Amino acid sequence: MMRTRPLKVALLGCGVVGSEVARIMTTHADDLAARIGAPVELAGVAVRRPSKVRQGIDPALVTTDATALVKRGDIDVVVEVIGGIEPARTLITTALEHGASVVSANKALLAQDGAALHAAAEEHGQDLYYEAAVAGAIPLIRPLRESLAGDKINRVMGIVNGTTNFILDKMDSTGAGYQEALDEATALGYAEADPTADVEGFDAAAKAAILAGIAFHTRVRLDDVHREGMTEVTAADFASAKEMGCTIKLLAICERTADGQSVTARVHPAMIPLSHPLASVRGAYNAVFVESDAAGQLMFYGPGAGGSPTASAVLGDLVAVCRNRLSGATGPGESAYAALPVSPMGDVVTRYHISLDVADKPGVLAQVATVFAEHGVSIDTVRQQGRNQSSGDAVAVDQDGEASLVVVTHRASDAALSGTVEALRKLDTVRGVASMMRVEGE
Ligand code: HSE
Repeated sequence: MMRTRPLKVALLGCGVVGSEVARIMTTHADDLAARIGAPVELAGVAVRRPSKVRQGIDPALVTTDATALVKRGDIDVVVEVIGGIEPARTLITTALEHGASVVSANKALLAQDGAALHAAAEEHGQDLYYEAAVAGAIPLIRPLRESLAGDKINRVMGIVNGTTNFILDKMDSTGAGYQEALDEATALGYAEADPTADVEGFDAAAKAAILAGIAFHTRVRLDDVHREGMTEVTAADFASAKEMGCTIKLLAICERTADGQSVTARVHPAMIPLSHPLASVRGAYNAVFVESDAAGQLMFYGPGAGGSPTASAVLGDLVAVCRNRLSGATGPGESAYAALPVSPMGDVVTRYHISLDVADKPGVLAQVATVFAEHGVSIDTVRQQGRNQSSGDAVAVDQDGEASLVVVTHRASDAALSGTVEALRKLDTVRGVASMMRVEGE
């Protein structure tokens, strides 16, 4: 039966996402009420610039005093789409203290302070939902937290940043360099004026922390995630990747270590085979590949950003939280019972693709191979990286007596692999390490 007293929603932030949330709440009001069992009413909208015209929003609801709004006491659900750490953290905590549940899209805050916010929600008997914080519209948090709650997740590997996927896809399909592809992403509105959070992997690292925490029932904070950006990826790297039947993606990888006693979380560019489902994720799309004991391999795919897609995830949470509220229950809170330690990057086991500029002298190949052997790293293949040469020899020689060597290793610890590269740099015969990149997904 439909309850007539509406559930009151306060919206914090009315930008690209917030305005879409408000619009869908209005245009889909009847459907939302039927699905929830009570109408939902927009009771207030906190913004920074009240004079801005916001179509479809009653100006009487607009306020600059977000604190007063979350303290009102009659608000059922606070939707936070401001982003950033403060004032979002204080506003969410205050809302929970004042009897409101919270729906948030704030990945940075959840990756940094998720444990404290979950604790506050539990203490005050409220919900804290954040489907929109990771991969926009893609249902991911709820499938991991609820649908797979009876399974054991071993690995979560995803493309969780659309801007960088757009740039890398452009480099792959056109042969463009990083800067040229970034300029196009900026012109088309995919990249922000300051793209640091995306291209240096901060955005993806926050999402990796959230995913790892849920997948492994363990607290994983942003600081636990090893992060490397993708600004150093070159057109030559893509050419090399192509020769190996691979492409390059910025991946967020969360996995259990081989002994199952700890977990790792990392973000870095990596080569993946074209046959891997993540290789076909084009443009600004996101996708997350999940491997679990019982379900096997699952892939979640869709738009990872933008006003409407993100609002879709926010609205899904809003419906769930409102339903919980009407039934006098709360949904699942934080699950961190496993409390597995988070291992450092050195413990990750992976493969490397290393491109070296070496002197063309007898014995160089043997010297290079010895360094790998000394570090316990087994070489899979050695081949030429074309330098205007098309011979099939293992070493391509140019007219200055230099050669390019591309070495692909078998799996080894990241510590052993990076130790190998460090030692190679010290060899007189190695003029430079042109690139090194991990190879994943095989
Ligand atoms: N800037 C992000 C991206 C979207 O490019 O995917 C929000 O997390």
